[in-house]
Amino acid sequence: MTLLALETSCDETSAAIVREGRVLANVVSSQIKLHTEYGGVVPELAAREHLKNLLPVARAALSDAGILPRELEAVAATQGPGLGIALLIGLKAAQSFAFALNKPFIGINHHEAHLYSPWIVGQPAVADFAAFQPNLSLIVSGGHTMLVLVESELNHRVLGGTIDDAAGECFDKTGKLLGLPYPAGPVIDRLAETGNPKAYAFPRPLLHEANDDFSFSGLKTSVRYFVRDNPTLVDDPQKLRDLCASAQAAIVEVLVTKAIRAAERAGVRCVTASGGVSCNRALRKELARACEKRGFTLRVAEPSLCTDNAAMIGILAERKWLHGVAPTPLDAEIRPGWQLAEVPQSP
Ligand code: KG4
Ligand code: ZN
Repeated sequence: MTLLALETSCDETSAAIVREGRVLANVVSSQIKLHTEYGGVVPELAAREHLKNLLPVARAALSDAGILPRELEAVAATQGPGLGIALLIGLKAAQSFAFALNKPFIGINHHEAHLYSPWIVGQPAVADFAAFQPNLSLIVSGGHTMLVLVESELNHRVLGGTIDDAAGECFDKTGKLLGLPYPAGPVIDRLAETGNPKAYAFPRPLLHEANDDFSFSGLKTSVRYFVRDNPTLVDDPQKLRDLCASAQAAIVEVLVTKAIRAAERAGVRCVTASGGVSCNRALRKELARACEKRGFTLRVAEPSLCTDNAAMIGILAERKWLHGVAPTPLDAEIRPGWQLAEVPQSP
């Protein structure tokens, strides 16, 4: 099957062409520079940018893949969760393409797509999907932090999630307190590289709780008080790097410890990670170290597939189609609050 996939759930406009598990093209147009000025994503601006960029991005994907519109056999798009007016642009465009081409439309849950992005390795991408199941998956993005048990393909159970801020949100808000630009996650990652992670002790929320939930708002508050009490510290470049490394170490330790503990409890031998925060080098390193110690296989999405992209939407849509999941109606609406736990499981 040859499929066009669109992703517009937040501040990335993306189109991909997928054929038989192969990503033939994956074009991403990021709006980050636009939103940096405002210190966060402005939904109205995001929607306007999607409107402006979607057709050029879709055209570029078709051209990169060497595919003509009439060769498409299905169209997929993110249906939710995400920013309502941003989702609307991609969903309605995809449904219109499907209508014009008289082909099926497949609406995808954004988190379910993140869940499978670590498997997009090699060509065809999904060749060894079955080899590493069951697995424990950590989804860490700007809006969500979740632990999911993937029992088999398209069968997963959410074990826990954040009760307040997501890990990415914690990186971004902490960075803002330190005077860093939005999104601060990648900036903290870079500054932390030459900082001392043990310089300052920040709390590790819920680390010792026997559940699979996370809480990051206390960590951000603790950084806020620390900066209030030490206002000149961030002006010293080395101390700023130490602060970044120390805050990052707290987030990473909680994520790694809880993911590994959940994997041990579930009795699985494979751990996966995806979402924007899984680009974080300290997280990737610590996860690798922890998995190696226990003999677990680790699969982390490659950096270009950690952040939002349409390739993961297309790969998942094709798998759903092959598993006999029914197409989504052409008049289906956006689902901005669609939880992963609500996604129907494979028959
Ligand atoms: O998955 P994503 O692109 O969008 C959502 O679905 O939310 O994740 C974006 C988040 C932002 O909070 C950003 O700061 C964070 O991922 N992020 C990082 C890194 N790269 C992106 N956080 C820490 N270290 C990074 N290298
Ligand atoms: Zn995402």
